[in-house]
Amino acid sequence: MQTENAFPIEIKKIKQSRIHEVDFNNLTFGSVFTDHMLSCDYKDGKWQNPVIEPYGPLTISPAARVFHYGQAIFEGMKAYKDKNDEVWLFRPEENFKRFNKSSVRLAIPEVPKEVFMNGLLTLLRLDKDWVRKGNGNTLYLRPFVIATQAGVSAAPSNEYKFMILMSPAQAYYTGDVKVLIAEEYSRAANGGVGAAKAAGNYGAQFYPTSLAKDQGYQQIVWTDSTHEYLEEAGTMNVFFRIKDTLITAPTSERILDGVTRKSVIALAESQGIPTEVRKISVKELVAAAKDHSLKEIFGAGTAAIISPVSGFGYQNTNYDLPKIEDSYALRLKKQLTDIQYNNAEDSFGWRYKV
Ligand code: COI
Repeated sequence: MQTENAFPIEIKKIKQSRIHEVDFNNLTFGSVFTDHMLSCDYKDGKWQNPVIEPYGPLTISPAARVFHYGQAIFEGMKAYKDKNDEVWLFRPEENFKRFNKSSVRLAIPEVPKEVFMNGLLTLLRLDKDWVRKGNGNTLYLRPFVIATQAGVSAAPSNEYKFMILMSPAQAYYTGDVKVLIAEEYSRAANGGVGAAKAAGNYGAQFYPTSLAKDQGYQQIVWTDSTHEYLEEAGTMNVFFRIKDTLITAPTSERILDGVTRKSVIALAESQGIPTEVRKISVKELVAAAKDHSLKEIFGAGTAAIISPVSGFGYQNTNYDLPKIEDSYALRLKKQLTDIQYNNAEDSFGWRYKV
């Protein structure tokens, strides 16, 4: 069993903060980083002590395996500041568990819980001024691991770097989100890495998503191998409201087990919204759009929070969704963000004080 100081963190503080250079009202998602970052190396068969130091570039061999074989995984989390300047995380242990699940799938050694959690908390306490108050303001946290061993033989690295970066963020999607249903490309395969938060899962979507963007769609809703069933979108899980029932695909070896997704399911059930976790086919979606029983589609993810989708494209036809008064997306987003920002009681025990 590890003692409390099994991985003491060395802290090298920045001389002068860059915070005054930042326009917090005009942030492009993921483009500004806080004063400090954490790194922790894996070598000689074990994780070393973490270091917190000023945010800056790394020196890394061009032969590092991450560049050649994409051995890299990450997580996306957020910190929130309440009215009393207290900082909170949302279900961080879920991200920790998924982080190591992704690691195992990519043959990366699991990061000890102490390194992950103490690293997050220490970094957040140091850069807490970067978490801004007010609904919509968050600090996006990006823990990740890359394979750093130099050498291009196609085998797992024996050296890794675990890092945490933090980036002040507001909404991920600013305008309307329209989605295109995948008919040709696939995001994941049976037995593949779809359920892992592997860097390559995202990189592989860039090309098909750029083709969708050319047609006016921001995201693709990926389908199964036969392109019959709806799975998830690039940066979020997807929910469909048909009549008054909320439907989302079950997680599988191809679908990311989203923390926001499972929170939305629990919140919907707590609001008495009929909720079904089941396979939903493209055919069913198109039929529901045609007979107007499709009332809403929305995405759920850490970066995206809950993002309403205004329409979808399939087989060269665009289906626009009607504007809706009593939107589940808005109701659920309010309940979720009230918990995240400590504006409401958290009967689920999801909030985690920093
Ligand atoms: C997240 O919501 O954390 C994501 O993974 C989206 C990210 C790729 C921007």
